[in-house]
Amino acid sequence: MNKTLIVNRAQCEEILTVEKCIPYMKTALIGISDKQAKVLQRTMIPHDNGNMLANMPASLVTENVAGSKVIIFPGPQTAKMGTNQGIIPLFDITTGELTAIIDAELITVVRTAATSAAATDVLAKKDSKTLAILGSGKQGKAHVQGMLAVRDIKTVYMWDLYFDAAKQACELMKLQYPDVEFIPCETAKEAAVNADIICTTTPGKTERPVLLGDWVKEGAHINAVGTCSARGRELDGEAVKKSVIFSDWTEACHRDAGDILFNISIGELDEMPPMVEAGEVLAGRHPGRTDEKQITMFESVGISVEDIAAAKMIYQYAKENNIGTWLEI
Ligand SMILES: NC(=O)c1ccc[n+]([C@@H]2O[C@H](COP(=O)([O-])OP(=O)(O)OC[C@H]3O[C@@H](n4cnc5c(N)ncnc54)[C@H](O)[C@@H]3O)[C@@H](O)[C@H]2O)c1
Repeated sequence: MNKTLIVNRAQCEEILTVEKCIPYMKTALIGISDKQAKVLQRTMIPHDNGNMLANMPASLVTENVAGSKVIIFPGPQTAKMGTNQGIIPLFDITTGELTAIIDAELITVVRTAATSAAATDVLAKKDSKTLAILGSGKQGKAHVQGMLAVRDIKTVYMWDLYFDAAKQACELMKLQYPDVEFIPCETAKEAAVNADIICTTTPGKTERPVLLGDWVKEGAHINAVGTCSARGRELDGEAVKKSVIFSDWTEACHRDAGDILFNISIGELDEMPPMVEAGEVLAGRHPGRTDEKQITMFESVGISVEDIAAAKMIYQYAKENNIGTWLEI
């Protein structure tokens, strides 16, 4: 009987960084475009107390790994208690062995920022120096780490619905990056107008956009991250119209990209615009940005193969560095 490596939350925190995750997200995005990633749509079981059991399976054939993120999306009581948990069981496709069980808590936030960084690396102008973060929560802060990993950013403008959140995020980030200037902003416009790279990381569940096309300067790159359903948007129709659009997975974006679908539903866009998968650019089959004045946009709705690729990274690192506990299941 083979043994399974258990990697707990504290060990994942020790191992997983946005920087380390970026190459794995490049592989995952290429896997999507090469049809070497197999992904099933998320299924959920709702419960009366609001807790939802979610199951997000995927396999990445090129990495010989299959698995599923299995987590509870907490209802109000569970969220207050902070007791919700999740795991990713990882299987070897060739042998069928259960190779690892990885805690899932940190993976979602880190893999999302690492995916945006992978796309930004091939889409944003090489000399991008300024970054705007709209929504200074977990994703906003992780996106600072992701963007600083791929571009020589000198100034970061951070905005949030709550100014205090933007201020606190700036103070926290400054400790990690003392050479970078962090400026908390009172308005989203103030943050966006001078930015070479803009990341939208708000809940994006309403009609009110946080980024207007009018504010986006020539040559900018946008990572649209917060909206993962057709029920809301972060970008107005103008921002989408001005952009050359790249997706994490076009099939999923046709279903879930609120920045496009919601704008179509309220008449700010006429129809589904063309989009190219970022994996095509990463694989060298598409040039990406073709001129310095173009505005590029990465539409990220999140794909479970990113979770599996990040879990594989944790497994490999843990195995090589004697971290975790081997158990016979
Ligand atoms: N694309 C993906 O793969 C992916 C993955 C994970 C999360 N997400 C999405 O990213 C978003 C942010 O997630 P998070 O974990 O950082 O959440 P979070 O709660 O940690 O942060 C959200 C931040 O947005 C701020 N905010 C709330 N409403 C706002 C508004 N109307 N305008 C501006 N700011 C507002 C909050 O004050 C908070 O600071 C969520 O919508 C989540 O669904 C996307």
